[in-house]
Amino acid sequence: MYPMKRNRRLRSNESIRSLVRETVITPNDFLVPLFVVEGKGVKHEIPSMPNYFRFSLDTLESEVKLLWELGLKSVLVFVKLADVLKDNKGTEALNASGLMQRAVKTIKNVCPEMLVMTDVALDPYSIYGHDGVISKGVINNDDTVEILTRMSLSHIEAGADFVAPSDMMDGRIASIREAFEDNGYVDAGIMSYSAKYASSFYGPFRDALGSAPINSKNIPKDKKTYQMDYANRFEAIRETDLDIDEGADIVMVKPGLPYLDILREIKNEFDVPVAAYQVSGEYAMIKAAAEKGWLDHDQTMLETTIAFKRAGADIIASYFAKDIVKLI
Ligand code: PBG
Repeated sequence: MYPMKRNRRLRSNESIRSLVRETVITPNDFLVPLFVVEGKGVKHEIPSMPNYFRFSLDTLESEVKLLWELGLKSVLVFVKLADVLKDNKGTEALNASGLMQRAVKTIKNVCPEMLVMTDVALDPYSIYGHDGVISKGVINNDDTVEILTRMSLSHIEAGADFVAPSDMMDGRIASIREAFEDNGYVDAGIMSYSAKYASSFYGPFRDALGSAPINSKNIPKDKKTYQMDYANRFEAIRETDLDIDEGADIVMVKPGLPYLDILREIKNEFDVPVAAYQVSGEYAMIKAAAEKGWLDHDQTMLETTIAFKRAGADIIASYFAKDIVKLI
């Protein structure tokens, strides 16, 4: 008898397909990145990220309310600073009334239940566009960790629920965790960018924040001395293992789509929630191809999102979050 198995039976119409579908996405899966700038009434589209915007604190209020109405309950905040506020040590990052600290308060004020995570790294604050302090032409790990720790405390003091260190310095999770414990912030969370690769896909993000490493003789031109080599897999396990040991509550793999193998491996290996970040360059590629009519925007967006979840992501940080939630 031929054939005994006809797999197409389970694909023959949408009803049966949806009945046997293994992966579903809901608004609960998403973490929404937000770019914040100084000013009033600002909603600037980022040129390399079509339909994505920088908000001033007032327009941020309505955006946050809208996200909440759409069922999106977690945000990840980034700030774009004026160049005059930048220096080598990211001094402005520690300002209790700095833009990040005010953004956190603004969000919590309009939407107290919104889960607020803050980016912790020096690049938006650094005149050199690096995630750490530079001394003698190199990124100094331990000096940076000290600043990142104070920065993290400052974000939690402002009302953030989680900090998200994206800097890839060694030992920063332990240092931040200890500071939280010592200061009584026992419930403050840490989502660590634990496996973060030195990637070309961050380009549009650096446009959005004006945070690209500067081109200068004595300054490293890229982030390869701290972000991971994209040829490496075992290193991602070691990094993640260490961050969990040091006290991370959530770990992350970044970028997203080119690193689904890493994501799956981390998910299989560890029992903490795993986040994936569909980064700016991934967003820009889909937007650009869709603008040219070369790809179907919504279908491509959905397919990539499902791919993250299928590969093991418990949390998806995505610039598409709003669009997807409207679609599903
Ligand atoms: C900063 C940071 C970056 C991203 C998140 N946090 C850029 C970088 O490391 O250069 C990238 C996010 C994206 O591209 O969407 N440390």
